[in-house]
Amino acid sequence: MATNAPATTGATCIAHPVRQDAWWVTPLLTVVVFVGFIIYSSWRALEGFYQPGTTHFIQEPYVSPLYALHFVKSGWGFLASTNVSPALFVLPIPLFFRLTCYYFRKAGYRSFLADPRACAVPESRKKYAGETVMPWVWVNLHRITFFFAAALVFLTYKDTVEAYIFDGRFGIGVGSLLYTLEAVMVTLYTFSCHYFRHLVGGKIDCFDCPGGAVRYSLWRWVTAWNVSHMQWFWASLVSIMLIDLYIRLLGAGVIPQDPRIVF
Ligand code: FES
Repeated sequence: MATNAPATTGATCIAHPVRQDAWWVTPLLTVVVFVGFIIYSSWRALEGFYQPGTTHFIQEPYVSPLYALHFVKSGWGFLASTNVSPALFVLPIPLFFRLTCYYFRKAGYRSFLADPRACAVPESRKKYAGETVMPWVWVNLHRITFFFAAALVFLTYKDTVEAYIFDGRFGIGVGSLLYTLEAVMVTLYTFSCHYFRHLVGGKIDCFDCPGGAVRYSLWRWVTAWNVSHMQWFWASLVSIMLIDLYIRLLGAGVIPQDPRIVF
């Protein structure tokens, strides 16, 4: 972008930034919301640890998405006898998937490391080694975490379908709607992934070749979703917190009952 600002050194720019707008708002919001999610989800996970056997994460037919793998614990005898929280099986998946997300790498470097703080706000660091050195080289594991996250999406749909079944009858509750919202947001976020876009449309020389048309259609879908990847990131994060908080408030009696219609 053309600018009339004089060329300055990094140190001078920090004292007299080129940008005069409130560029710091986005990094600040990123830190507040993301750290808020980590604190909240850790509290919920450890709550299960310290109170084994409680039902604060299940309010039939709703199961908190943070405890989506709770059946693993009851299915594996040696785990059932421990008070390890089932949430600890789930949380590492979205955590590593999001920490290594291509969008969040940009947001995280700016917000948590000030590296750089924002576009056109100079950084003080002189040397740039990219993500080729430890510990940043680990972010390349995103291509693996994607598959775990995708599996979790399918589990979300299982729980969403079950959120519409009340004692064997079809019904719609506020929880069912919140679950549906979460399933849609998590789907959009996960399958708008840059790596998934490469998976369906990359490494191909011609879309006219056999199988190319299918991949081209898929690539167009993913590309359309990918445009708003940042928005899906935050919307899915908030929707997970929302349904979990709803179940927690039901369990605590703060919300006396789930408004629902059963057919
Ligand atoms: Fe963000 Fe893959 S790039 S989830």
